[in-house]
Amino acid sequence: MTTIDLPSSDRPAQMEIGLAITFRTARLEDLPKLEWYGQYTHFRNVFRKTYKEQLQGRRLMLVADCGGFPIGQIFMQTGGEARHKTYFYSLRVMDMFRGHGIGSRLLDEAENIAVAYGYMSANIAAAKDNPRARQLYERRGFLLIGEDSGRWSYVDHEGKSRHVHEPCWVLEKTLLLR
Ligand SMILES: CC(C)(COP(=O)(O)OP(=O)(O)OC[C@H]1O[C@@H](n2cnc3c(N)ncnc32)[C@H](O)[C@@H]1OP(=O)(O)O)[C@@H](O)C(=O)NCCC(=O)NCCS
Repeated sequence: MTTIDLPSSDRPAQMEIGLAITFRTARLEDLPKLEWYGQYTHFRNVFRKTYKEQLQGRRLMLVADCGGFPIGQIFMQTGGEARHKTYFYSLRVMDMFRGHGIGSRLLDEAENIAVAYGYMSANIAAAKDNPRARQLYERRGFLLIGEDSGRWSYVDHEGKSRHVHEPCWVLEKTLLLR
């Protein structure tokens, strides 16, 4: 499709806006918003279960909030007997907000929280077909320690079982106690 030029000027009208992003734990009212207008509706039950586990102190859902909307997220395990190692997962940032450091900051904040909880190290998985995610983690000090078949299942919003098979690399970072 071709863009139709406006008669009033040679260039399209532009404006720049500064946006404040707040990093905080997810609240109940975030759950429908985490579906990102249909992109992740299939994870409705996963979000609800993870939120329940957050209330029980077993998981933490960290979101990047822009104007009350969770435009990015990372989840982590916070339970377990010995607080030796935590696991970060489900890192994602909405398409139009990528490339501005929000994903990196979510990782930083998750690390800070993990340190505050007393964890010594954190694992994260990068799908083998997502080399940019692996590079992002390696740039941030995660080291490759192995691989995983990436098989897991969940029940979608229509009650159907969905089976995921996403072979991934497993990376680990030793957390510095601050
Ligand atoms: C990975 C992701 C969270 C990074 O968020 P972000 O806010 O763009 O991250 P930052 O701005 O801090 O860092 C940018 C880096 O992220 C990585 N990245 C950018 N777009 C990406 C994409 N679509 N998929 C994977 N990694 C991406 C790149 O390494 C990029 O650096 P580069 O531009 O030098 O290549 C975001 O791109 C995303 O949500 N991707 C889709 C979901 C995903 O792949 N999650 C990782 C699961 S393993």
